[in-house]
Amino acid sequence: MNHAETPTPIPARAAIPGHYEDLRGKLALITGGSRGLGAATALALARQGVRLALVGRDEAALAASLAAVRACGIEAIAQRADCSRPEELQRLREVVEARLGVPDFLLPFAGGGSGRPMPAEAITADDWRSSVEHNLHASFFTLQAFLPGMLARGSGNLLTMASAGARVAAGAPAAYGAAKAGVIMLTRHLAQELGPRGLRVNCLSPSAVLTERTRATLTPERRAGMLAGFPLGRLGEPEDVAAAALFLLSDASAWISGVVLDVAGGRVMV
Ligand SMILES: NC(=O)c1ccc[n+]([C@@H]2O[C@H](COP(=O)([O-])OP(=O)(O)OC[C@H]3O[C@@H](n4cnc5c(N)ncnc54)[C@H](OP(=O)(O)O)[C@@H]3O)[C@@H](O)[C@H]2O)c1
Repeated sequence: MNHAETPTPIPARAAIPGHYEDLRGKLALITGGSRGLGAATALALARQGVRLALVGRDEAALAASLAAVRACGIEAIAQRADCSRPEELQRLREVVEARLGVPDFLLPFAGGGSGRPMPAEAITADDWRSSVEHNLHASFFTLQAFLPGMLARGSGNLLTMASAGARVAAGAPAAYGAAKAGVIMLTRHLAQELGPRGLRVNCLSPSAVLTERTRATLTPERRAGMLAGFPLGRLGEPEDVAAAALFLLSDASAWISGVVLDVAGGRVMV
Protein backbone atom coordinates (compact mmCIF):
# COMPACT_ATOMS: atom_id res chain seq x y z
CA MET A 1 0.00 0.00 0.00
CA ASN A 2 1.15 3.51 -0.72
CA HIS A 3 1.58 5.05 2.73
CA ALA A 4 -0.01 8.30 1.58
CA GLU A 5 -3.28 6.44 1.03
CA THR A 6 -5.90 6.23 3.75
CA PRO A 7 -5.87 2.63 4.97
CA THR A 8 -9.03 0.67 4.28
CA PRO A 9 -10.32 -0.68 7.59
CA ILE A 10 -11.01 -4.38 7.77
CA PRO A 11 -14.82 -4.58 7.95
CA ALA A 12 -16.41 -5.41 11.29
CA ARG A 13 -17.26 -9.09 11.53
CA ALA A 14 -20.92 -9.97 11.18
CA ALA A 15 -20.76 -13.52 12.47
CA ILE A 16 -18.19 -16.09 13.47
CA PRO A 17 -17.44 -18.34 10.53
CA GLY A 18 -16.54 -21.97 11.01
CA HIS A 19 -17.86 -24.97 12.81
CA TYR A 20 -15.99 -27.16 15.26
CA GLU A 21 -17.87 -30.45 15.46
CA ASP A 22 -15.61 -31.77 18.23
CA LEU A 23 -16.99 -29.11 20.63
CA ARG A 24 -20.57 -30.45 20.52
CA GLY A 25 -21.80 -31.84 23.85
CA LYS A 26 -18.76 -30.66 25.82
CA LEU A 27 -19.23 -28.69 29.05
CA ALA A 28 -17.68 -25.21 29.50
CA LEU A 29 -17.61 -23.09 32.65
CA ILE A 30 -17.16 -19.37 31.98
CA THR A 31 -16.63 -16.83 34.73
CA GLY A 32 -17.59 -13.34 33.64
CA GLY A 33 -20.30 -15.11 31.63
CA SER A 34 -22.89 -12.54 32.64
CA ARG A 35 -21.81 -9.85 30.17
CA GLY A 36 -19.13 -8.58 27.80
CA LEU A 37 -16.53 -10.97 26.40
CA GLY A 38 -17.64 -13.84 28.63
CA ALA A 39 -21.27 -13.62 27.49
CA ALA A 40 -20.26 -13.33 23.80
CA THR A 41 -17.96 -16.35 24.11
CA ALA A 42 -20.69 -18.30 25.90
CA LEU A 43 -23.09 -17.58 23.04
CA ALA A 44 -20.52 -18.62 20.43
CA LEU A 45 -19.93 -21.88 22.32
CA ALA A 46 -23.67 -22.50 22.67
CA ARG A 47 -24.00 -22.16 18.89
CA GLN A 48 -21.42 -24.96 18.58
CA GLY A 49 -23.53 -27.18 20.85
CA VAL A 50 -21.43 -26.72 24.00
CA ARG A 51 -23.23 -27.06 27.37
CA LEU A 52 -22.58 -24.16 29.73
CA ALA A 53 -22.18 -23.04 33.32
CA LEU A 54 -22.18 -19.24 33.45
CA VAL A 55 -20.73 -17.45 36.46
CA GLY A 56 -20.93 -13.81 37.52
CA ARG A 57 -22.25 -11.65 40.35
CA ASP A 58 -25.10 -9.70 38.76
CA GLU A 59 -28.23 -11.90 38.85
CA ALA A 60 -30.12 -9.93 36.19
CA ALA A 61 -27.20 -9.96 33.74
CA LEU A 62 -26.67 -13.68 34.39
CA ALA A 63 -30.34 -14.38 33.69
CA ALA A 64 -30.20 -12.51 30.37
CA SER A 65 -27.04 -14.32 29.28
CA LEU A 66 -28.54 -17.66 30.34
CA ALA A 67 -31.68 -17.02 28.29
CA ALA A 68 -29.55 -16.20 25.22
CA VAL A 69 -27.53 -19.42 25.40
CA ARG A 70 -30.54 -21.62 26.21
CA ALA A 71 -32.24 -20.24 23.11
CA CYS A 72 -29.57 -22.16 21.17
CA GLY A 73 -31.10 -25.38 22.53
CA ILE A 74 -28.24 -26.38 24.83
CA GLU A 75 -28.27 -27.32 28.52
CA ALA A 76 -27.03 -24.43 30.67
CA ILE A 77 -27.09 -23.09 34.21
CA ALA A 78 -26.07 -19.77 35.74
CA GLN A 79 -24.57 -19.44 39.21
CA ARG A 80 -23.68 -16.40 41.23
CA ALA A 81 -20.16 -16.37 42.72
CA ASP A 82 -17.48 -13.85 43.55
CA CYS A 83 -14.44 -15.48 41.98
CA SER A 84 -12.02 -13.65 44.26
CA ARG A 85 -13.40 -15.78 47.14
CA PRO A 86 -12.15 -19.37 47.21
CA GLU A 87 -14.99 -20.53 49.49
CA GLU A 88 -17.60 -19.32 46.98
CA LEU A 89 -15.76 -21.18 44.21
CA GLN A 90 -15.79 -24.41 46.20
CA ARG A 91 -19.58 -24.10 46.56
CA LEU A 92 -19.81 -23.31 42.85
CA ARG A 93 -17.81 -26.44 41.99
CA GLU A 94 -20.14 -28.63 44.07
CA VAL A 95 -23.23 -27.25 42.33
CA VAL A 96 -21.77 -27.45 38.80
CA GLU A 97 -20.37 -30.95 39.22
CA ALA A 98 -23.64 -32.20 40.76
CA ARG A 99 -25.85 -30.67 38.05
CA LEU A 100 -23.72 -30.89 34.90
CA GLY A 101 -20.54 -32.82 35.67
CA VAL A 102 -16.85 -31.94 35.51
CA PRO A 103 -16.21 -29.19 32.94
CA ASP A 104 -14.21 -30.02 29.82
CA PHE A 105 -13.39 -26.37 29.33
CA LEU A 106 -12.61 -23.78 31.98
CA LEU A 107 -12.63 -20.12 30.98
CA PRO A 108 -11.79 -17.82 33.93
CA PHE A 109 -12.63 -14.59 32.09
CA ALA A 110 -13.95 -12.63 35.09
CA GLY A 111 -12.04 -9.46 35.74
CA GLY A 112 -11.43 -6.05 34.31
CA GLY A 113 -10.06 -2.74 35.33
CA SER A 114 -11.02 0.86 35.49
CA GLY A 115 -9.66 1.30 31.94
CA ARG A 116 -8.54 4.80 32.88
CA PRO A 117 -4.86 5.56 32.51
CA MET A 118 -3.63 6.34 36.01
CA PRO A 119 -0.20 7.54 37.12
CA ALA A 120 1.48 5.11 39.51
CA GLU A 121 1.53 7.61 42.34
CA ALA A 122 -2.27 7.92 42.12
CA ILE A 123 -2.92 4.18 42.52
CA THR A 124 -4.30 3.61 45.99
CA ALA A 125 -3.70 0.46 47.99
CA ASP A 126 -7.36 -0.45 47.42
CA ASP A 127 -7.04 0.04 43.62
CA TRP A 128 -3.98 -2.18 43.57
CA ARG A 129 -5.53 -4.93 45.70
CA SER A 130 -8.76 -4.83 43.74
CA SER A 131 -6.97 -5.25 40.37
CA VAL A 132 -4.93 -8.17 41.63
CA GLU A 133 -7.86 -9.79 43.45
CA HIS A 134 -10.40 -9.60 40.63
CA ASN A 135 -7.98 -10.56 37.85
CA LEU A 136 -5.04 -12.68 39.08
CA HIS A 137 -6.47 -14.13 42.30
CA ALA A 138 -9.87 -14.79 40.72
CA SER A 139 -8.25 -16.63 37.78
CA PHE A 140 -6.10 -18.81 40.04
CA PHE A 141 -8.84 -19.61 42.55
CA THR A 142 -11.22 -20.59 39.73
CA LEU A 143 -8.68 -22.86 38.07
CA GLN A 144 -7.69 -24.41 41.37
CA ALA A 145 -11.29 -25.16 42.37
CA PHE A 146 -12.05 -27.12 39.19
CA LEU A 147 -8.69 -28.78 38.54
CA PRO A 148 -9.17 -31.85 40.77
CA GLY A 149 -12.08 -33.18 38.67
CA MET A 150 -10.31 -32.50 35.39
CA LEU A 151 -7.09 -34.10 36.60
CA ALA A 152 -8.98 -37.16 37.83
CA ARG A 153 -10.50 -37.49 34.36
CA GLY A 154 -7.13 -36.78 32.69
CA SER A 155 -8.40 -34.30 30.11
CA GLY A 156 -9.42 -30.69 29.87
CA ASN A 157 -8.71 -27.37 28.28
CA LEU A 158 -8.12 -24.16 30.25
CA LEU A 159 -8.30 -20.74 28.62
CA THR A 160 -7.26 -17.71 30.67
CA MET A 161 -7.89 -14.02 30.00
CA ALA A 162 -5.05 -11.47 29.96
CA SER A 163 -4.97 -8.10 28.21
CA ALA A 164 -2.84 -5.99 25.90
CA GLY A 165 -2.11 -4.06 29.10
CA ALA A 166 0.06 -7.01 30.13
CA ARG A 167 1.90 -7.14 26.79
CA VAL A 168 2.77 -3.49 26.19
CA ALA A 169 2.96 -0.59 28.60
CA ALA A 170 0.69 1.83 26.77
CA GLY A 171 -2.21 3.33 28.65
CA ALA A 172 -3.60 0.68 30.98
CA PRO A 173 -3.16 1.31 34.71
CA ALA A 174 -0.03 -0.40 36.07
CA ALA A 175 -2.01 -2.42 38.62
CA TYR A 176 -4.19 -3.95 35.89
CA GLY A 177 -1.20 -4.62 33.61
CA ALA A 178 0.74 -6.25 36.42
CA ALA A 179 -2.23 -8.42 37.45
CA LYS A 180 -2.79 -9.58 33.87
CA ALA A 181 0.94 -10.25 33.40
CA GLY A 182 0.55 -12.55 36.39
CA VAL A 183 -2.25 -14.36 34.55
CA ILE A 184 0.11 -14.92 31.61
CA MET A 185 2.81 -16.45 33.79
CA LEU A 186 0.22 -18.52 35.64
CA THR A 187 -0.90 -19.86 32.24
CA ARG A 188 2.64 -20.87 31.30
CA HIS A 189 3.29 -22.57 34.63
CA LEU A 190 0.08 -24.55 34.36
CA ALA A 191 0.73 -25.49 30.73
CA GLN A 192 4.11 -26.90 31.74
CA GLU A 193 2.74 -28.68 34.80
CA LEU A 194 -0.53 -30.02 33.42
CA GLY A 195 0.42 -30.99 29.85
CA PRO A 196 1.78 -34.38 30.93
CA ARG A 197 -1.51 -34.94 32.80
CA GLY A 198 -3.68 -34.42 29.71
CA LEU A 199 -4.64 -30.75 29.99
CA ARG A 200 -3.95 -27.87 27.63
CA VAL A 201 -3.68 -24.30 28.95
CA ASN A 202 -3.67 -21.18 26.76
CA CYS A 203 -4.34 -17.49 27.19
CA LEU A 204 -6.24 -14.86 25.22
CA SER A 205 -4.89 -11.33 25.35
CA PRO A 206 -7.28 -8.85 23.75
CA SER A 207 -6.64 -5.20 23.12
CA ALA A 208 -9.53 -2.70 23.08
CA VAL A 209 -12.78 -4.56 22.43
CA LEU A 210 -16.11 -2.79 22.13
CA THR A 211 -18.37 -4.26 24.79
CA GLU A 212 -21.37 -2.57 26.35
CA ARG A 213 -19.05 -1.23 29.06
CA THR A 214 -16.31 0.09 26.77
CA ARG A 215 -18.85 1.56 24.32
CA ALA A 216 -20.31 3.52 27.24
CA THR A 217 -16.96 4.80 28.48
CA LEU A 218 -15.02 5.53 25.27
CA THR A 219 -15.81 8.95 23.87
CA PRO A 220 -15.96 9.22 20.04
CA GLU A 221 -12.80 11.39 20.19
CA ARG A 222 -10.88 8.82 22.24
CA ARG A 223 -12.04 6.01 19.94
CA ALA A 224 -10.92 7.91 16.86
CA GLY A 225 -7.58 8.68 18.51
CA MET A 226 -7.00 5.01 19.32
CA LEU A 227 -7.57 3.77 15.77
CA ALA A 228 -4.14 4.85 14.54
CA GLY A 229 -2.58 2.21 16.80
CA PHE A 230 -4.48 -0.65 15.13
CA PRO A 231 -3.00 -1.74 11.78
CA LEU A 232 -6.26 -3.55 10.94
CA GLY A 233 -8.12 -0.24 11.17
CA ARG A 234 -10.80 -1.00 13.74
CA LEU A 235 -11.26 -1.79 17.41
CA GLY A 236 -12.21 -5.31 18.41
CA GLU A 237 -15.65 -6.81 18.79
CA PRO A 238 -16.58 -9.47 21.35
CA GLU A 239 -16.96 -11.99 18.51
CA ASP A 240 -13.26 -11.54 17.62
CA VAL A 241 -12.39 -12.85 21.07
CA ALA A 242 -15.04 -15.58 20.92
CA ALA A 243 -13.70 -16.80 17.56
CA ALA A 244 -10.19 -17.11 19.01
CA ALA A 245 -11.61 -18.99 22.02
CA LEU A 246 -13.39 -21.52 19.78
CA PHE A 247 -10.12 -22.27 17.99
CA LEU A 248 -8.11 -22.69 21.20
CA LEU A 249 -10.77 -24.93 22.77
CA SER A 250 -11.25 -27.15 19.75
CA ASP A 251 -9.07 -30.01 18.56
CA ALA A 252 -8.02 -27.71 15.70
CA SER A 253 -5.39 -26.44 18.18
CA ALA A 254 -4.62 -29.88 19.68
CA TRP A 255 -0.84 -29.32 19.65
CA ILE A 256 -0.93 -25.81 21.08
CA SER A 257 -0.43 -25.17 24.78
CA GLY A 258 1.15 -22.36 26.79
CA VAL A 259 0.58 -19.68 24.16
CA VAL A 260 -0.69 -16.15 24.58
CA LEU A 261 -2.88 -15.25 21.61
CA ASP A 262 -3.01 -11.49 21.05
CA VAL A 263 -6.49 -10.70 19.74
CA ALA A 264 -5.51 -7.16 19.06
CA GLY A 265 -6.02 -6.02 15.47
CA GLY A 266 -2.25 -6.01 14.95
CA ARG A 267 -1.63 -3.55 17.79
CA VAL A 268 0.41 -6.03 19.82
CA MET A 269 3.25 -7.88 18.11
CA VAL A 270 5.47 -9.61 20.65
N1 LIG B 1 -13.18 -5.36 26.74
C1 LIG B 1 -11.90 -5.22 26.54
O1 LIG B 1 -11.47 -4.33 25.78
C2 LIG B 1 -10.90 -6.13 27.20
C3 LIG B 1 -9.57 -6.10 26.74
C4 LIG B 1 -8.65 -6.95 27.33
C5 LIG B 1 -9.01 -7.82 28.33
N2 LIG B 1 -10.31 -7.82 28.77
C6 LIG B 1 -10.64 -8.77 29.84
O2 LIG B 1 -11.74 -9.56 29.46
C7 LIG B 1 -12.51 -9.93 30.62
C8 LIG B 1 -13.94 -9.51 30.42
O3 LIG B 1 -13.94 -8.10 30.25
P1 LIG B 1 -15.20 -7.32 29.62
O4 LIG B 1 -14.65 -6.21 28.84
O5 LIG B 1 -16.14 -8.28 29.03
O6 LIG B 1 -15.76 -6.67 30.97
P2 LIG B 1 -17.23 -6.45 31.54
O7 LIG B 1 -18.20 -6.26 30.45
O8 LIG B 1 -17.08 -5.42 32.59
O9 LIG B 1 -17.52 -7.85 32.25
C9 LIG B 1 -16.75 -8.26 33.33
C10 LIG B 1 -17.26 -9.61 33.74
O10 LIG B 1 -16.44 -10.12 34.80
C11 LIG B 1 -17.29 -10.45 35.89
N3 LIG B 1 -16.53 -10.29 37.13
C12 LIG B 1 -15.61 -9.34 37.43
N4 LIG B 1 -15.10 -9.56 38.64
C13 LIG B 1 -15.72 -10.68 39.12
C14 LIG B 1 -15.63 -11.44 40.31
N5 LIG B 1 -14.79 -11.08 41.31
N6 LIG B 1 -16.38 -12.54 40.45
C15 LIG B 1 -17.24 -12.92 39.47
N7 LIG B 1 -17.37 -12.25 38.31
C16 LIG B 1 -16.63 -11.14 38.16
C17 LIG B 1 -18.48 -9.54 35.77
O11 LIG B 1 -19.57 -10.11 36.44
P3 LIG B 1 -20.82 -9.24 36.99
O12 LIG B 1 -20.97 -8.06 36.09
O13 LIG B 1 -21.94 -10.21 36.92
O14 LIG B 1 -20.45 -8.84 38.37
C18 LIG B 1 -18.68 -9.54 34.26
O15 LIG B 1 -19.35 -10.70 33.83
C19 LIG B 1 -11.82 -9.25 31.81
O16 LIG B 1 -10.94 -10.16 32.43
C20 LIG B 1 -11.04 -8.10 31.16
O17 LIG B 1 -9.93 -7.72 31.92
C21 LIG B 1 -11.27 -7.00 28.24
